Amino acid sequence: MNTTLKEGIDWVGCIDWTVRDFHGYKTESGSTYNSYLIRDEKNVIIDGVKARFTEAFLNRIQTLIELDKIDYVVCNHAEPDHSGGLPGLMAAAPQAEMICNKKCKDTLEKHFDTSAWKWHVVEDGDTISLGKRTLSFINTPMVHWPESMFTYVPEDKLLFSMDAFGQHYATAFRFDDEEPLDVILHEAKAYYANIVMLYGRPIAQTLARAAELDIEMIAPSHGVIWRSHIKEVLEEYKKFVVCKPTAKIIVMYATMWDSTEKMAEAILEGAQECNVEARFYNVDSTHPTHIATEVLDCAAVAIGSPTLNNSLMPKLAGALCYLSGLRPTNKKGFAFGSYGWSKRGGASEVENIMKEMKIELMHDPIRAQYVPTPEILEECREAGRALGKYAEQFAD
Ligand code: FEO
Repeated sequence: MNTTLKEGIDWVGCIDWTVRDFHGYKTESGSTYNSYLIRDEKNVIIDGVKARFTEAFLNRIQTLIELDKIDYVVCNHAEPDHSGGLPGLMAAAPQAEMICNKKCKDTLEKHFDTSAWKWHVVEDGDTISLGKRTLSFINTPMVHWPESMFTYVPEDKLLFSMDAFGQHYATAFRFDDEEPLDVILHEAKAYYANIVMLYGRPIAQTLARAAELDIEMIAPSHGVIWRSHIKEVLEEYKKFVVCKPTAKIIVMYATMWDSTEKMAEAILEGAQECNVEARFYNVDSTHPTHIATEVLDCAAVAIGSPTLNNSLMPKLAGALCYLSGLRPTNKKGFAFGSYGWSKRGGASEVENIMKEMKIELMHDPIRAQYVPTPEILEECREAGRALGKYAEQFAD
């Protein structure tokens, strides 16, 4: 495994092959927690790993340098997948100074006993000379937490971007040109959709600042390091930050006695008469992680639930809770669903959630009492056609 980014700069992170849940994100491809060692006149560790990998992390560092030779540890982001291993590192290298911004110091102090740590608090734009190289710090609030920060090394044109441009993707390879491009770009999309979609505006500001830098390599804190496909991932991120619609529609639903499913199928039939990509998800069989990834760049979405106990089917409620928290933008759609003796809940509640999500409603909910009649199924087909026609305009 090649772990050398540049002469004197190495990956010293950990590969988490088996993780399958990351605060609700179904990480079917595992993940990595990337940490980097820079050896110069001053030696630096950039970011840490999850707590349970601390021993392996320290062992990997020691294959390259004695721990008492580490001068600085940079913490770009205090979330425990990157900071959990830092108490172990700071205890093993007590001479090292922790470099981070003020918000990160506050956050680390709330997570760990940091009473023995030496601190070097930096502000946006500060630099520290390592000898041949310089560390330059750029605050990137809400990418992904308020304390998030990039570290840039101008001499190597290397950006340590913490969560930004990352992927939850476990692989024995460390670089973007060692993996299929379509796979890693999809993983970067899934990561963006499920972790930071709600922070599109601050990420757009961060992209603008990154555009001012001369970058030859982007080293995120998850997944592969970008060195051959920087242009491609930056282009994708420009689309992600505005949830740029494509010619794609989504029908997602839960069903009780098949009535809402029949309505969903009729909507899909109508949409498929148009020249669009269509995705069809029963939330019983599709995890919200996959749906969120596809919603990121869809144009329109139809969401259905029958009424259950004057409310929604629980799995649809859970999927919408997850999705609404991620705040996708630039979408149109409508609600649908069956009901028995009360129109409370079901399609009405779905519509209320869609309104809160600022999904532009194309029309009132489509409802069927108990079982959809042929007329209601035709209404669903017609609504599906309208959904598809709207999405068609976004074809390349
Ligand atoms: Fe990879 Fe926001 O932590």
